[in-house]
Amino acid sequence: MNQRPYVTIFSTMTIDGRIASSTRFSELSCNYDLARLRLLRGAHEAVMVGANTIIIDDPTLRKRLEPRTTKYYRVIVDGKLRVSLNQRIFREPGPKVIVITASNDKEKIKKIRELGADVVKVDTLGDKGEVDLREALQILAENYDINSVLVEGGGALNYSLLRQRVVDELRATITPYVFGAGVSIVNDYLGTGFRDRSESPRLRLSCVELCPCGQCVHVAYTLLSKCCEPRLREPPIEFCLSERLRRLVQS
Ligand SMILES: NC(=O)c1ccc[n+]([C@@H]2O[C@H](COP(=O)([O-])OP(=O)(O)OC[C@H]3O[C@@H](n4cnc5c(N)ncnc54)[C@H](OP(=O)(O)O)[C@@H]3O)[C@@H](O)[C@H]2O)c1
Repeated sequence: MNQRPYVTIFSTMTIDGRIASSTRFSELSCNYDLARLRLLRGAHEAVMVGANTIIIDDPTLRKRLEPRTTKYYRVIVDGKLRVSLNQRIFREPGPKVIVITASNDKEKIKKIRELGADVVKVDTLGDKGEVDLREALQILAENYDINSVLVEGGGALNYSLLRQRVVDELRATITPYVFGAGVSIVNDYLGTGFRDRSESPRLRLSCVELCPCGQCVHVAYTLLSKCCEPRLREPPIEFCLSERLRRLVQS
């Protein structure tokens, strides 16, 4: 593979590693964590989410804090093109939406394009319809000149990216809740996941800090197991953000 953007995953989870409960409740962030998310969006040139996150949460992914990159795209990974044409991300004004899919549904592709979004077709890996995310990222770098992507989940997309070894940074905010069931931050809902330490991606701790709210902990890990180097060699923003968040939320 030639070049791909720098990829950061960021999720907010319960202490048992869930990003959503069995009822798909997922509002876990404190005010500082919301600011952290918007700060990270501001620092990246694209945001990426999986189809279920769009279908369940219906986000617009627009809010970003300074300093903001001038380029900003919103990317949806939707192998089977299940998202509805009525999602807010298509209907409300905002930066360009790019839908990555393996679907051949010409009618739906046409309708999505009529709403102003781009639809990018990529190959699948294996027989479960998993989109080739290395190819997708390469297209984002080459056709859109995107240098960095913030992945906001959900668990299935996080797993797929880690499995395909295209993640540079994994960030999580640990919140003082326990769900006991639901969606894990990294979720192989079709398979066995990584079966032991040798299969697990290798990570190095880059930051651990108490959230200014006093109840949450934010961790940032750098991925050592990667298929290939990203375009950006330096992270888009520093690993520890609490000082910046304190100033931002107080002002
Ligand atoms: N707390 C948080 O920080 C946070 C953040 C985001 C989301 N969430 C929650 O997480 C839940 C959704 O997570 P989830 O794991 O169910 O879903 P998800 O990752 O948002 O979406 C999964 C879907 O995305 C598509 N997809 C992802 N990777 C793919 C790949 N490599 N190839 C093909 N398609 C791919 C597939 O769609 P197709 O079936 O169309 O192929 C797959 O079914 C929601 O409840 C949401 O509220 C929480």
